[in-house]
Amino acid sequence: MPRKFIIGGNWKCNGTNASIEPLTKGVAAVVDAEMAKKVEVVLGVPFIYLTKVQQILAGEANGANVLVSAENAWTKSGAYTGEVHVGMLVDCKVPYVILGHSERRQIFKETDEVVAEKVKVAIGAGLKVIACIGETEAERVGNKTEEVLARQLKAINTTLTKEEWKNVVLAYEPVWAIGTGKTATPDQAQEAHAFIRNWMAANISKEVAEETRIQYGGSVNNANCDELAKKVDIDGFLVGGASLDAGKFATIIKSA
Ligand code: PGA
Repeated sequence: MPRKFIIGGNWKCNGTNASIEPLTKGVAAVVDAEMAKKVEVVLGVPFIYLTKVQQILAGEANGANVLVSAENAWTKSGAYTGEVHVGMLVDCKVPYVILGHSERRQIFKETDEVVAEKVKVAIGAGLKVIACIGETEAERVGNKTEEVLARQLKAINTTLTKEEWKNVVLAYEPVWAIGTGKTATPDQAQEAHAFIRNWMAANISKEVAEETRIQYGGSVNNANCDELAKKVDIDGFLVGGASLDAGKFATIIKSA
């Protein structure tokens, strides 16, 4: 089965009640039935706006073709002030969660093990996970890209069964390309994606390697998406800045 292209918008900590309405409607307008056959579109929304975005989508003709995702989650209910756990996302019919984004790893000090535990628990709760991996600039310059990717993949794989990998989308996001305007070239991205797929074939199974979708993320925009989308191992994008502009995001969706 060919891998269906998947384009995620990662709104991060952005948006207001006023701004998310036209943005959500603008995205829904592009994802008609024909487009939805080619591409799965997922909006990563701050917790506080998830329900509102779901309500806006419910009122749009193509709304059912756009899914929402949380941008993080905690693993358990209980005395964890300020956290939102995976069961709450399921309760609110949120199908996806982004985990292990480099901003969570760097700013909020989430280790490989914490990310892996979150991925495991989220899938166990019934969520689909966009799991992010990627090297920093220093790691790339130090020729450590493959070592870092393998370490991050191994941590996630340690907790998952082959069956559970069906609910994972990987996002390769080189940290040096996120929000910097410095996109990986299509060849650089393809090289990393091929490494990830080969790692999965060798360490999980050929089937999981063939079936798992790998998004590229890091300064994807309306001008560079078409060239990136042509690469064989690039199965979609995770888009930050450009996903806040309905017009640019629409162009990226059309690259599928
Ligand atoms: P960017 O962010 O598109 O703004 O570089 C990507 C991401 O962080 O997912």
